[in-house]
Amino acid sequence: MEPISRRQALILGGLGTASIVAGGAGLFWTANTGFVPSTAQRFTEPAALRSVNGALQLTLTAAEGPAQIAGRHATALTYNGGLPGPTLIIRPGDRLKISLANQLREPTNLHVHGLHVSPDGNSDNVFVSIDPGSSFDYEYRLPPDHPPGVYWYHPHHHGMVATQVFGGLYGAIIVEDPTPIPVSRERVLVLSDITLDGSGTIPAASAMDRMVGREGNLMLVNGQASPQLSARPGERERWRIINACVARYLRLRLDGQRLQLLGIDSGRFPRPHDVTEVVLAPGNRADLLVTGVKGTASFQTLPFDRGAAMGMMGGTRPSSTTVNLATFIVAGPPATPAAVPGQSQPRDLRKSTVDGRRELTFAMGMGPGGMGMGSGGNMMSFTIDGKEFDPARIDTIVHAGSVEEWTLSNTSPMDHPVHLHVWPMQIVERAGAAVNGVLWQDVVNVPAMSSIRVRIPFDDFTGKTVYHCHILDHEDGGMMGIVNAA
Ligand code: C2O
Ligand code: CU
Ligand code: CU
Repeated sequence: MEPISRRQALILGGLGTASIVAGGAGLFWTANTGFVPSTAQRFTEPAALRSVNGALQLTLTAAEGPAQIAGRHATALTYNGGLPGPTLIIRPGDRLKISLANQLREPTNLHVHGLHVSPDGNSDNVFVSIDPGSSFDYEYRLPPDHPPGVYWYHPHHHGMVATQVFGGLYGAIIVEDPTPIPVSRERVLVLSDITLDGSGTIPAASAMDRMVGREGNLMLVNGQASPQLSARPGERERWRIINACVARYLRLRLDGQRLQLLGIDSGRFPRPHDVTEVVLAPGNRADLLVTGVKGTASFQTLPFDRGAAMGMMGGTRPSSTTVNLATFIVAGPPATPAAVPGQSQPRDLRKSTVDGRRELTFAMGMGPGGMGMGSGGNMMSFTIDGKEFDPARIDTIVHAGSVEEWTLSNTSPMDHPVHLHVWPMQIVERAGAAVNGVLWQDVVNVPAMSSIRVRIPFDDFTGKTVYHCHILDHEDGGMMGIVNAA
């Protein structure tokens, strides 16, 4: 199958528009369907479960049922009845045991996104399938030098990931710093989007949703719509922000306040960066220091152009308008901010020897039947190196302990946020230009018609795992491959 070029996309655009007009009722950008969120409530966080004496053990029950969303009764998918699920707070060297009980009507499983743990057996093994009515005991052992930071968990059963995550199955994992960073308070902000109809249920995704990547009409912060947070001037808070959206990129701002970014994903910068804006692709996390400046600030997400396919203009998506995610009210007697953390020296592979180089090409093509469907009923095929995901095929074999350089090329008219399990990636080049500084992420956005170069240390673990586009509809559509470290 041929990768689709921008020109072809334009041509397809003409054809696509006609069918879209004809079939308009199922499109995600049709007007909001009657669900009225309750806004401006006091900010809440999911229940937190913390490890004790090096271990955290819990049961997560995935079920469909009543959930409190945006201050209203709704029906969604939840872990332990909550949306998001509980926040898991652990430390480097800990053992995390999760018994996952599946009360959904379809198979599921669990992935601990970003954790540097074994992909084998009952650890972070995405090839496990848990049937409805049964459960599975996961056990993850974090190395003693595991990077502290913000991680998250969500289902990873191929073909069902987008629907299960969109439905509400996600939660935060915090790996604490061995030496805590002094702050007035820590907050977890799980950002997600959802579409609910007037009766509070989630409509089925359309073929167009699956092609472009579904975006919800409603943005949620810990399951709430535009909640209110408050602090005193000078107080320094630590915000752990997760983009749990299936396909929506977040361009976050909190104008008027002082923002210092500690890092993205598990990648901690040598020193905090002063920022005015943080862009998170689906799956990315931000570890952010917010120092209160007197006044009321809107925590918002601005439009981000992630490209288009088949004539779908970015201008028609829910994410094409600015959304108030939360209101941050800073008032009261001033406080003295705690000291900003000092230096840490991250590993830098830019000068290391590279043991292997390869190129991975992310493409969107015509389905096997011309204008017809790709696998799984998709309007298009989503491929890596011309192939759709096959659980029986190993696409890439690497030597355990080696350092590889991967060029991630995107020949399609949409961005693809590329994610690798278990091992973080150091971004060394973007569109041919060397990256300044040390930048480690586990989801790396590869812009439309562009490429990114990363270096990966395949340390500590052997076994089989996956890399894929974190627009979860694209992953389900086939844009995933298997890597075996042996
Ligand atoms: Cu966030 Cu393969 O996953
Ligand atoms: Cu992951
Ligand atoms: Cu993609």
